[in-house]
Amino acid sequence: MLEILKNRRSIRKFTEEKVSKEDLEKILKAGLLAPSSMGKKPVEMIVVEDKEVISKLENCKKHGTVPLKTAPLVIAVIGDSELSDVWVEDASIVSILIQLEVEKLGLGSTWVQMRKRESLEKDSEEAVREVLAIPEKYGVLSLIAIGYKNEEKKPYDDSDLNFEKIHYNKF
Ligand SMILES: Cc1cc2nc3c(=O)[nH]c(=O)nc-3n(C[C@H](O)[C@H](O)[C@H](O)COP(=O)(O)O)c2cc1C
Repeated sequence: MLEILKNRRSIRKFTEEKVSKEDLEKILKAGLLAPSSMGKKPVEMIVVEDKEVISKLENCKKHGTVPLKTAPLVIAVIGDSELSDVWVEDASIVSILIQLEVEKLGLGSTWVQMRKRESLEKDSEEAVREVLAIPEKYGVLSLIAIGYKNEEKKPYDDSDLNFEKIHYNKF
């Protein structure tokens, strides 16, 4: 597990190669295996492979959308805000589990934040809801951009770890 965690870096450039059906199924299983508060499972995922739709998603946020330019696969991670008051936490767990399975499969990904972000005209969540026809009650946490890596990033090692962030018994 630590090896996967050290190797996972945000990959923002992808090759044109599509993600296979088998790999996509594993990635989605990882998301569906996420724990959720009180087992309510408020999180849903929308798989987007249509390049035109992905480029519309790129316009849903002013900055930080570079990974969407080349990603052949995007998974929108959304949560039913009426079903759970902590859908954000649940959707965060789903997002990172997707990223870890992606890394395990030898692919790359980046979390593109939508919640609390803006496009040129409106709130990013609202913009994504419009592009993907998502009902109003769903919050949009992230768009996970996924594909084969087209850039190299150095894995983390123990010297990158901030052990000063750890406190024992009191702050
Ligand atoms: C909550 C969250 C939001 C993020 N939003 C974006 C984003 O909108 N665009 C982007 O390119 N990267 C985004 N990232 C990736 C971070 O920039 C990246 O994880 C961080 O710089 C550390 O680099 P690493 O992922 O390679 O370890 C986000 C990551 C997290 C956890």
